[in-house]
Amino acid sequence: MTRATITGLGTAVGNKVITNHDLAAVLDTSDEWIVERTGIHERRVGGSCLELGGQAARIALKEAEMDASDLDLIICATCTPDQVFPAVSNRLQEDLGAACGAFDLNAACSGFTYAISLAQAQISAGMERVLVVGVDTLSRFTDWDDRSTAILFGDGAGAVVMEPARRDDRGVLSTYMGSEGRFADLLTCDFGDYIRMDGKEVFRQAVRVMVSASRRVLADAGLEPSDVTVVIPHQANLRIIESAMKRLGIPLGKAATVIEVTGNTSSASIPLAMGAAVSKSGIADGDVVLLVGFGAGMSVAAALLRWGR
Ligand code: ACO
Repeated sequence: MTRATITGLGTAVGNKVITNHDLAAVLDTSDEWIVERTGIHERRVGGSCLELGGQAARIALKEAEMDASDLDLIICATCTPDQVFPAVSNRLQEDLGAACGAFDLNAACSGFTYAISLAQAQISAGMERVLVVGVDTLSRFTDWDDRSTAILFGDGAGAVVMEPARRDDRGVLSTYMGSEGRFADLLTCDFGDYIRMDGKEVFRQAVRVMVSASRRVLADAGLEPSDVTVVIPHQANLRIIESAMKRLGIPLGKAATVIEVTGNTSSASIPLAMGAAVSKSGIADGDVVLLVGFGAGMSVAAALLRWGR
């Protein structure tokens, strides 16, 4: 089987910084409460999905030394598209100067990892250059007067170019896509409304599904938690990440985080954390990288990769 591997990575965030202190000035909350309960210090807001996705995609294409016109497919994971239709991906295709198929995928915060799985499938079926974008602008659907949700969300994008790996043992090793629709009412956003959620229950289920999805991709690849070099989890709450890592038996130091400065950016959170990991300590050739996301739906997805070409 041809494995897809990441050959370019780009990120972008909203240009306005909102700190916990900014929120504490207008809401009944405090920097201490938000940091202790979520790990978030500030979030970035602003920009459309097209703007943020386009910025991230251009950086990823440059790193992959690829012209957009050479792309075979664009998959854009988002649950907050700029319009009901057309899809963000169609506008991105035109904006980037690509001449290929393009579609949006809504699996909430699991969207980017779902898209990695689809890119792998397309590359193993013969495609050569797939652009995966994860972008969300949750600030547009946040009730900024509601302290239980306003503290959590931000806007951002991350993009990766995926191509066939040159070596058999590099690239995507295994993937998992799951759905637990019985929990759909825990986290919703109706037309014309804001994000509503049962935070405590989302927290509980999130830890459970992250652990089970991670174990599944590890088992499918014949690997153990101790083989994982870097975990790139969805960035919803630092305490969710801590609990999942503890249950998986993987040291917390192996988890890449960016939530401290971005908040929860949904589909963008995993590529943003990947970008932070690459620029902080680097991800080395041969490292085993575990992506694991969960979100509204309740959707869940994981992907295991061996880094390198
Ligand atoms: N500041 C101060 N106090 C607050 C705040 C706030 N911002 N928010 C809630 N409180 C209060 C509550 O009113 C409550 O007070 P009470 O005890 O007097 O009733 C107390 O703090 C505890 O509230 P909880 O909701 O129990 O707090 P918890 O520790 O569960 O933290 C949080 C809340 C941060 C929302 C947490 O439950 C969480 O992160 N849940 C998961 C959220 C998540 O992952 N969402 C995914 C979105 S992904 C997507 O698909 C879009």
